[in-house]
Formats: sequence, structure tokens, C-alpha cells
Amino acid sequence: MNVDLNIIVFGSTGLMGTAFETVCRKRSISYVGMSHQDIEITSMEMVNNVIERYNPDTIINCVAVPSIDPCEKDPELPLALHCTAVLHLAKECAKRDILFVQPSTHAVFDGLKEEPYTEDDQVKATNIYSATKLLSERFVATYCKKYYIPRFPTLYGLRQNNSMGFVDKVITWIREGRDMKIADDKMDSPTYSIDAAEVVISLIVNNEPYGLYHVANNGCVSYYDFVIRIKELMNADNNIYRAKDSDFSSEIYKPLRTALQSVKLKPIRSYEDALLDYVNTDVIGVSD
Ligand SMILES: NC(=O)c1ccc[n+]([C@@H]2O[C@H](COP(=O)([O-])OP(=O)(O)OC[C@H]3O[C@@H](n4cnc5c(N)ncnc54)[C@H](OP(=O)(O)O)[C@@H]3O)[C@@H](O)[C@H]2O)c1
Repeated sequence: MNVDLNIIVFGSTGLMGTAFETVCRKRSISYVGMSHQDIEITSMEMVNNVIERYNPDTIINCVAVPSIDPCEKDPELPLALHCTAVLHLAKECAKRDILFVQPSTHAVFDGLKEEPYTEDDQVKATNIYSATKLLSERFVATYCKKYYIPRFPTLYGLRQNNSMGFVDKVITWIREGRDMKIADDKMDSPTYSIDAAEVVISLIVNNEPYGLYHVANNGCVSYYDFVIRIKELMNADNNIYRAKDSDFSSEIYKPLRTALQSVKLKPIRSYEDALLDYVNTDVIGVSD
């Protein structure tokens, strides 16, 4: 067990940064959270200064442009954040013997497989987001001996900034009484950010073998069924209509079925249990 840790979390105000901080606090693990106000990750000088100053044994880099459309609109930003900055961090971590944790995404798959993707499945870049995230995986695996690449599916949870993911938007629309059309052919394994962070911190604390891991709540569900479940848990009566992913036209390729499962880790709790916990504690505020 490796409990005497000193972690830097880059991107601390975002979804996973917030979750990693929460889990570190809960487990009394020493960490420093770095927001965008604290550091510009593309500045190698700032990154090096922070590493010198805090002398971490672990760096978790949650800085990203974690969705497809903005990456396609402005490719220079994901190139800078996912490629150049990650390459620099990977080299620095290798040089200084720091464990590097670089999250990745289910978007590295083409979405054509019927079943959830495992760590053994073939990746395929289909858009700028996935191409740049695949390159970040390659840099980390090439330069670092001590690394974890946790691939996440669609995530939800509390965050310290004002950004909104898919689940946040759905919850807002439900509260506003809006009706929705949701794709029933788009499959995923939506995952609570706290559960994802718990798994990754456990990998670190337990000195599990370095490498790539799929980290997801157990199960696979359509977006439509997942939204219906959120609506039920919130006791709402909005109309949710079935649609097909192709009804939401996009010129950008977006993988259709991107649930994840691991052949290396024991399954964690189901997406149903995790969602119930999130809605009760964080959305409705009824914790037991
Ligand atoms: N969210 C998902 O559903 C999802 C799914 C699969 C994989 N992932 C992966 O999980 C990781 C974390 O994603 P996330 O959803 O937590 O991202 P996020 O919520 O968008 O957070 C990104 C963080 O990076 C900060 N940041 C942005 N640009 C920066 C810059 N130039 N320099 C320094 N900090 C900067 C942001 O600051 P501000 O608060 O100022 O914006 C924010 O704290 C990423 O590697 C992503 O690819 C996410």
C-alpha cells in the first residue's frame, strides 16, 4: 500500500479534477489542486516551476477539451492541450521518476462494436478529439515507465466550475420542465466521476501494475433509458421522446456505441446504483 502520497492535480476545477480532490480529501491523501487560474498547462516554464515547487510523486492531468465539437472547431487547442502539453508532462515525469496519470476517453473507439469495449479492443481515431487523445496515450506509454492511462466513458458529477456535461444539461432541462428527444440507439456506460476517481486512486495506492485501464460503472445503457431513469429519480413528469442518433445531424463523426468495461479490473458498482447515489446526494441533496 502506498498511502504516503503527494499528488498534483492539474485541471482541478473541472469534473475529474473536482472528483480527484474529493477522493484525496476523503482518504487523507496530500494533494495540490491546480486550476487554470493557477497555471497555464501549455507553458512549459510554469509546469516545470510547479513541479519544482511541490516536488510531487504523482501528477494527475485532468486538463482537456473533453468533447468532440469544440475540438473540431478549434483543433489548435486540443493539439496544444492533449499533445504538446502531455508530451512535455510525460517527459518531465519520466525524467523526475514521477508517476503520471493521464486520463483518456471511450472516444478512441469507432463505436461500431455491439458489446462494451475492453482494453484489448482496437482503437480508431475518427475525429480531432479522439486523434489527439490517442496521441496523448501514445506519448505517455512511450516516455513513461510509471503511468496509468484510465479511459473513461461519459462522466457526470459535481465540479467546481460552471461547465455543463450531458447529464448536467438533462437535469437542468428536467428542472425547467422541458420535453426532450433522446437517442435510443446511442449506448454508453455513464459513470459517476467520484467512482472513476476512487478506482484510479486505488490503482495508485495499491501499486497496481502500470498501464491502461478501462474505468466505468458496470453496465451498458442507451442515452434514452438513462435519461428516463434520471427523470424517474427526480420524480419529474417531462415527456421524453425516443429518437435516433442520426436525428441530431452532425458533419462530425461521433461514435455511436462506446460503453467500456475492463478485463483487468473487478467490476465496480452498477451505473444504476451510482446514478441513484449522485441524484440523492448531489442533485436532490438527500444523503443517508
Ligand atoms: N467529461 C467526460 O465525460 C469525459 C469522458 C471521457 C474522458 N474524459 C477525460 O477525462 C479528463 C478530465 O476531463 P474533465 O471532464 O474533467 O474536463 P473538464 O471538466 O473540462 O476540466 C478541464 C480542466 O482543465 C482546465 N483547463 C482548461 N484549459 C487549461 C489550460 N490551458 N491550462 C490549465 N488548465 C486548463 C479547466 O479550467 P476551467 O475551470 O477554467 O475551465 C478545468 O479545470 C480528460 O482527459 C478527458 O479527456 C472526460
